[in-house]
Amino acid sequence: MSGRLDGKSVLISGASRGLGFAQAALFAAEGAKILLTDVLREEGEAAAQSLRDDGYTAEYTYLDVTDADQWRQAVEMAVDKFGGLTTLINNAGIYFAAGLEDELVERWHKIIEVDQTGVFLGMRAAMPALVASGNGAIVNISSVLGVFGMLSAFSYHAVKGAVRTMSRAAAVEYGPKNVRVNTVFPGSVEAPSHAGSNSKDHDTVMSRVPLGRKGRPEDVAYASLYLCSDEAKYVTGAEIFVDGGISAF
Ligand SMILES: NC(=O)c1ccc[n+]([C@@H]2O[C@H](COP(=O)([O-])OP(=O)(O)OC[C@H]3O[C@@H](n4cnc5c(N)ncnc54)[C@H](O)[C@@H]3O)[C@@H](O)[C@H]2O)c1
Repeated sequence: MSGRLDGKSVLISGASRGLGFAQAALFAAEGAKILLTDVLREEGEAAAQSLRDDGYTAEYTYLDVTDADQWRQAVEMAVDKFGGLTTLINNAGIYFAAGLEDELVERWHKIIEVDQTGVFLGMRAAMPALVASGNGAIVNISSVLGVFGMLSAFSYHAVKGAVRTMSRAAAVEYGPKNVRVNTVFPGSVEAPSHAGSNSKDHDTVMSRVPLGRKGRPEDVAYASLYLCSDEAKYVTGAEIFVDGGISAF
């Protein structure tokens, strides 16, 4: 690989599997040091070990994104181990497939806690180290459902929309401090959780995807790679859809 992330140290939430691990693996191969974090401890340890086995620098630590204190500790660990933190990927997320009237208040609060508050806490905890790096970057993983009302997943639409707006706000606030904040919007991607894959409305949406297939985790990882590399040094507040063209439909 070409070392597009040489010198970067990256903290990724929800990195034990799925899109998070795909980003960790691609970023490591491009020269970054990676702190994989997740609530899935065994999978996270194994994921980090597999990267080390390939000769890369990777560590795992337990991080529940809803816990401000754990965020502080994870950022400290990255700074201690890697000599600083240049990059944060807010990737962890959960999904519920329920329409407006079927949604439960407990689930509504739960998804806000993980998918929305988790992104806020992550950006807040990492920002001092990112500013100190002099060249920081954040990528927040939203979803096409954060922009378009496509599926019966009311609460998920809500929180992913919030991720979009938080990214824009942080991009404006931290541009002057040279921290770039961008958002990636995956469509339907093959991953363990595979959002909405069992619903009828999901099949209808899929039948309209211009590129005619689901995405793969690496499709999302390549967009994220660009945004975190210095190739994107004049790119902030940007929104990249990795969705096979469904948002253009
Ligand atoms: N797969 C898709 O089709 C798709 C589409 C659009 C957006 N996304 C988004 O991409 C991101 C990754 O999704 P994925 O498909 O790889 O799902 P996934 O379930 O495979 O991965 C999500 C990871 O987040 C972790 N996680 C869940 N709650 C957590 C918490 N409280 N603290 C820390 N980690 C936690 C899980 O353990 C898991 O490893 C999510 O934000 C998801 O909403 C996925």
